Amino acid sequence: MAELFETEINLDGAPLDAHGLRAAVRDCDVLVPTVTDRIDSVVLSAASPRLRLIANFGVGVNHIDLSAARARGILVSNTPGVLTDDTADTAMALILWTPRRFAEGERIVREGAWRGWSPSAMLGHRVTGKTLGIIGLGRIGRAVAARALGFGLRVRYHQRHRLPAAAEAEAGGAVFHTSLDEMLPHCDILSVNCPLTPATHHLIDARRLRLLPPHAYIVNTARGEVIDEAALADALADGVIAGAGLDVFEREPEIEPRLRLLPNVVLLPHMGSATFEGRRAMGDKVITNIRAWSDGHRPPDQVLEGWA
Ligand code: DGY
Repeated sequence: MAELFETEINLDGAPLDAHGLRAAVRDCDVLVPTVTDRIDSVVLSAASPRLRLIANFGVGVNHIDLSAARARGILVSNTPGVLTDDTADTAMALILWTPRRFAEGERIVREGAWRGWSPSAMLGHRVTGKTLGIIGLGRIGRAVAARALGFGLRVRYHQRHRLPAAAEAEAGGAVFHTSLDEMLPHCDILSVNCPLTPATHHLIDARRLRLLPPHAYIVNTARGEVIDEAALADALADGVIAGAGLDVFEREPEIEPRLRLLPNVVLLPHMGSATFEGRRAMGDKVITNIRAWSDGHRPPDQVLEGWA
């Protein structure tokens, strides 16, 4: 970016607070925030009238007030596609690690508490042959489905619109549920792969957790706020569901304290897309979007309101 544009870079990577963000938007044509920067209407109201593009470094745009941006004539772009496989790999890892208790086993070995093999030690649940429910069979959801098929899982999915038959066939004949409530009782494992929008905030709440079978596991690699984290901790502690594999949290980097204490929870630090290859490709996409816009074209990854 520094070669192509006159840039000011937040080099240490620490998230800017609201004050820092307001200062950052005061004098730029393009803003490149990432998922930890909250670009709300207050920040945007401090923006220079020259600010015309927010080229987000990341695919999720829930941290950007899209309607405030639109009202000010600011375009928003993101980086779809280039982190699909890495995020789906993370979801698949959690789908395997959580029911099989691999994180717990790793801790036991590391802590020197392993006493050797025994017929009943570290028993978990087999993944092969189970039913995976996916909330959001978009790019990442489909990549999760493709991996799950290789592990012998059957796929069901819920989202606003049913996919064409060919896409369902590609996902191993994925069964569509118009109603999430109707899908949940069928799920041995539930993977959250939808974006965070007002409609998906706390989509999984205390009531819906109770619709899952007690042997079910939840995996979330999308956004923490899709699950009511306090309700999840209650459900895990009370045995309402069997376990959870989480890469994202409601108030990152804070985590509901009870989750850290529960052995049936696998916790990752929002690292779903953290590969060298992915980050480089995200950067390339940001530059492509800015370049297209500065050349007078529509950024190829322009985000439209109501995209989710
Ligand atoms: C994104 O791009 O939205 C991811 O959450 C970052 O990993």
